[in-house]
Amino acid sequence: MELANGTYAWLVTGYRQAREVLADPRFSNVPPQRAGRPKPDSPAERARACLARHMLNSDAPDHTRLRRLATAAFAPRRVDALRPRIERLAAGLTADLAARLEREGTADLVDAFAFPLPVLVIGEVLGVPEADRADLREWTYRVGSPADALAPGAVDEAWSALHSYFTALIAEKRRAPGDDLFSALVHDTDEGGLDDAELLAMAFLLLFAGYETTMNLLASASLLLLTHPGERAAALHGGPGRWAAVVEETLRHASPLEGTTWRRTTEPVDLGGGAALPAGASVLVALAAANRDPEHFPEPDAFRPDRHLPGGERPAPHAAFGHGPHFCPGARLARLEATIALPLLFDTFPGLSLAADPAELPYRPGLLVRGPREVPVKA
Ligand code: HEM
Repeated sequence: MELANGTYAWLVTGYRQAREVLADPRFSNVPPQRAGRPKPDSPAERARACLARHMLNSDAPDHTRLRRLATAAFAPRRVDALRPRIERLAAGLTADLAARLEREGTADLVDAFAFPLPVLVIGEVLGVPEADRADLREWTYRVGSPADALAPGAVDEAWSALHSYFTALIAEKRRAPGDDLFSALVHDTDEGGLDDAELLAMAFLLLFAGYETTMNLLASASLLLLTHPGERAAALHGGPGRWAAVVEETLRHASPLEGTTWRRTTEPVDLGGGAALPAGASVLVALAAANRDPEHFPEPDAFRPDRHLPGGERPAPHAAFGHGPHFCPGARLARLEATIALPLLFDTFPGLSLAADPAELPYRPGLLVRGPREVPVKA
């Protein structure tokens, strides 16, 4: 495919090929050196450059070391222990949403629920004190906004503010660790523990890998349930297994990350079927396409949670969390959040309906993330 900058890249769309590429060490995650690029000289540029140094942009053995630490911090028991806190955060947002609906008649589910919940949960993961969570939410909102949507300089200011805040947070966690997952990373002193620059990159990565994806999962699942009343009724009366199936089917049908991060071939690779890639080829794995590959998912365009239930066709695992060495370490946390938030939302507002034509809803621009920009609802 041709990219906007006039260069070419390979798009991998089949399920089998997607998994092959993601598990093959001949596809590197390290971005090519951009020769002649000026050194970052403003706080905002330094923050962006720091985000670029994270583990998704690395290969073994660097990646293996960073990944081992992240996997330990995201151990199932640590993630599961977040349940009561996530329930409390989701309940607080639901109460705010109820008040807003009462006051204004309509509300945007993305703004009121799907965006703030993952950001607040990352606040828990990073051990951000409650008093600072509103700032974290605001800075995250700003850095995720197009530069022309805010006052001049606002996006850069938010990047700098996040950079300073995370730098101070790391110093504080070194001094006085909390029971959060990030403190576990800061204090992992096993061979190859993280230095301050790596911790900073990790904090940025956790924020950006964790909030936008989960926001899209919550927004897309809500939209799918609002437009599939039969599935919504089945979920409301079907118990936890049915909600888990709704989440899996949303991940497959509306993959929050449409594509992985870029890969580059380190040598020529023949993927079969006429796809002979030269060394140095840029490659994007289209997770959304792989998840609708008809050879693996019958009726791929239909939203059918029952396919994941006992008695359903029990398809191959979807690829929404990737595959291979970079498989998402936050998958368990994202599933936990969604299976708490969605039943709470739809139980609390049994009459919730869309306040806009679903065909007219704007989607986020860009090649990698996918989700509705707004989901206006009325109670
Ligand atoms: C990596 C999807 C939530 C942290 C990935 C990858 C995918 C993905 C596809 C691999 C990308 C690639 O190979 O280029 C998702 C989806 C989510 C989600 C769909 C929500 C629905 C989260 C959460 C966190 C997280 C909640 C943590 C708070 C990460 C990290 C990586 C990653 C750190 C890099 C792993 C590595 O390089 O080894 N995610 N993610 N993700 N994700 Fe997630």
